[in-house]
Amino acid sequence: MKNYKRTLVTCALPYANGPVHIGHLAGVYVPADIYVRYLRMRGEEVLYVCGSDEHGVPITIKARQLGCSPQDIVDKYHKIIDESFKSLGINFDVYGRTSSQIHKETSSEFFRRLYDSGKFITKESEQYYDPEAKTFLADRYIVGTCPKCGAEGAYGDQCEKCGSTLSPEELINPKSKLSGAAPIKKKTTHWYLPLEQYESWLREWILEGHKEWRPNVYGQVKSWLDGGLQPRAVTRDLDWGVPVPVEGAEGKVLYVWFDAPIGYISNTRQILPDTWEKWWKSPDTKLVHFIGKDNIVFHCIVFPAMLKAYGDGYILPENVPANEFLNLEGDKISTSRGWAVWAHEYVKDFPGKEDALRYVLTANAPETKDNDFSWKDFQTRNNSELVAVFGNFVNRAVVLTHKYFGGKVPACGELQDVDREVLEAVPGIKASVEIYLDNYKFRETLKEAMNLARLGNKYISDTEPWKVAKTDLARTATILNISLQLCADLAIAFEPFTPFAAARLRKMIDSPLDWNLLGCSDILKEGHQLQEAELLVTKIEDEEIDRQLARLDAIRAEKEAAAKAEAANQVAPQKDECTFEEFEKMDIRTATVLAAERVPKTDKLLKLTIDTGIDQRTIVSGIAEYYSPEDMLGKQICILANLKPRMIRGIESKGMILMAKQGDGKMRFITPQEVVANGAEVG
Ligand code: 2FM
Ligand code: ZN
Repeated sequence: MKNYKRTLVTCALPYANGPVHIGHLAGVYVPADIYVRYLRMRGEEVLYVCGSDEHGVPITIKARQLGCSPQDIVDKYHKIIDESFKSLGINFDVYGRTSSQIHKETSSEFFRRLYDSGKFITKESEQYYDPEAKTFLADRYIVGTCPKCGAEGAYGDQCEKCGSTLSPEELINPKSKLSGAAPIKKKTTHWYLPLEQYESWLREWILEGHKEWRPNVYGQVKSWLDGGLQPRAVTRDLDWGVPVPVEGAEGKVLYVWFDAPIGYISNTRQILPDTWEKWWKSPDTKLVHFIGKDNIVFHCIVFPAMLKAYGDGYILPENVPANEFLNLEGDKISTSRGWAVWAHEYVKDFPGKEDALRYVLTANAPETKDNDFSWKDFQTRNNSELVAVFGNFVNRAVVLTHKYFGGKVPACGELQDVDREVLEAVPGIKASVEIYLDNYKFRETLKEAMNLARLGNKYISDTEPWKVAKTDLARTATILNISLQLCADLAIAFEPFTPFAAARLRKMIDSPLDWNLLGCSDILKEGHQLQEAELLVTKIEDEEIDRQLARLDAIRAEKEAAAKAEAANQVAPQKDECTFEEFEKMDIRTATVLAAERVPKTDKLLKLTIDTGIDQRTIVSGIAEYYSPEDMLGKQICILANLKPRMIRGIESKGMILMAKQGDGKMRFITPQEVVANGAEVG
């Protein structure tokens, strides 16, 4: 990789139609923050850019649902998202908004230049239109059955169930999300970026030039390119977005995926109006986009093609480390169902434990495959790794230094093998961390940082300075000196992962934040004064976890009840026609239950003795889930009397009880509206 002078890190602009959750954090923002903190510690020049994505159909849909304006929605969520990032220590240099004036100007100018230089094509096509709401049905305004996986409720741009990218035309049984009406087709004209013209260039740039990109990113790009690129519409018929800045485009706005990535540029211009070009147009700048896997095509194909079309020296990403998805307690995270852990709620529920979340989301990051977040795992990792290893080691080193040396770093005397081993291990860990971070392998990096803490913990346990102190204070001094150097190492190595604890640690031991010092055996000089020991990280108690699990249980129960209610209303399709003669063959009679008992060793079967008016007989029926023997006793029912007898669990069953069966399986027996004689014919 070439040597760059500076790094521009962008994080996917979150849609301002809801708060951010742990899936967003694990996928994009925590890894980006780790990377930026690492570069800064190395003294590199970094710009860290993000902001809210405030256009697009999900926002207008939400506004309609809540009866307010799209601006109200984005104002509300922009604030919540901005604050939750800050509270988790994710401090962008700029957190802008795509509803800002500077963004409108930047994205309009971008479009206009491509338009003026003939980079677009126009196409008239028939698109879905809602005749009741009198509006075109772009993207998420239209729903239907997914042609790829058959899921209901797939959107006009994507199926959330199988992740396929779709176009409205592909949906089966499309319906307007606005009115529920079946859409009609209406002619409209739009501007398209002919992506196919960039195909060979993209192949060379990525497939040939960036084989080092993560396999999930490289693989997705390859499959898009192998599938053949098509012209992509960059405008929409909508009333929320950046108006298309050309004549004859009334009622049209830029497609959200055209304007959003330009948001990275406008947000840079916002804070650096005079020097922004240094970040976007200099070959000395390394551009890295942190995104989730659903954004790969836009950041690796569409946006680069836009930048290439624009020309003027715009740089392309050096890497696009996209993560897979994080699930929650075994289920896909869903904003609409509330199946999520929201960043802003987490910081309220776990004050002072921001690091715990950052730590666990990194230890469990979905870097190569989808992963699961569970509250129990969260508690275990916090308590038995962060607290028991990292926190415990630092605490022992500082407390013992206060106890034996008045809180002053004691002298390091003659080294023994055990000391040399530990000191020599640190530069190796530092080197591994550097390689991993340079390759965006954050889970592995965290493991290395934890190994450093484990090394310290083991060292202090093995050398037992509290015992040695009884006989040899000089040796105790050496052990604690080395332990404190390790603490100073940890204050550097943990800065990207647990910045709050790392800062508390640096304050406590008054140590510097300089990557180059990591592994030096005398970061803290003899006589250096420490502050009083304080706990860096604290345990998470069972009650805290139980509260979170109870909240999720309630959501799960609600979901199950809703699914049941929906299933109950599912009506089985009508069976094939039968003739009257065929129906007449069935001898349906009224009968009364004389005795009822469960069939031993079964859950579903009742053995009923019934009076059919013709005879007394036994029927075995699979209704025990819905009726107890007592429920059935004395009840008048209807039976199919002439059904051929069958042996069921060794009992001869003569006939069948007529039941009404709902879509969810619930059954109720059929009874005459008034008691009638047994044996009365039903028909
Ligand atoms: O998927 C999303 O949440 C989009 N709002 C990401 C946009 S990234 C960028 F291009 F702005
Ligand atoms: Zn699907």
